[in-house]
Amino acid sequence: MKTNETIKTILARRSVRSFTDEPIAREDLEAIVACGPWAPSGMNRQEWTFTVVPDRKRIAVLAGVIGEVLGREGYDMYCPAAIVIVSHVKESPWGKQDDSCAMENMMLAATSLGIGSVWINQLEGICDNARIRAQLDAFGIPEDHEVHGLAALGYAADDLRVPVRKDVIRWVE
Ligand SMILES: Cc1cc2nc3c(=O)[nH]c(=O)nc-3n(C[C@H](O)[C@H](O)[C@H](O)COP(=O)(O)O)c2cc1C
Repeated sequence: MKTNETIKTILARRSVRSFTDEPIAREDLEAIVACGPWAPSGMNRQEWTFTVVPDRKRIAVLAGVIGEVLGREGYDMYCPAAIVIVSHVKESPWGKQDDSCAMENMMLAATSLGIGSVWINQLEGICDNARIRAQLDAFGIPEDHEVHGLAALGYAADDLRVPVRKDVIRWVE
């Protein structure tokens, strides 16, 4: 298969669920999050915001509240070094798709810098729970926004698991 640095990065990205204590350098985090808004968005509406939280204590508080709301005691979001919460206007017709493109952009940028990432989906459907909304408010996320994906970031503590890819490519020619 033909390859280049971009294709290698795409193939190298894996979900990381165990992070070291090492912080992410500010310039690396800035580069990762800068790639989010350069994703495509439906009709270029860009009805999203990217909220960066490079503070393990604040992340732990959010994870704790999510765990309580979902009844998942001890939920810790894998204790990442930083998170980027992607939110979109609830009524945005393609908000989820737009956010998903942005999430992948950031996860690939992280991979290219040797930084691990994983999509965290737990906020989907619970953003208007009063306790969760109070957390989102504390992060300055607009009250008419919802979240279905946030990127947890950090340096991988373990060797990465390589999940099997199904044989799903069909050529018609
Ligand atoms: C929409 C979506 C939601 C996901 N939610 C979670 C999640 O909440 N927690 C988690 O550990 N991984 C989550 N993942 C990561 C997937 O489990 C992972 O991408 C899949 O197992 C394939 O592994 P890979 O990313 O290493 O290739 C999510 C991925 C997507 C696209």
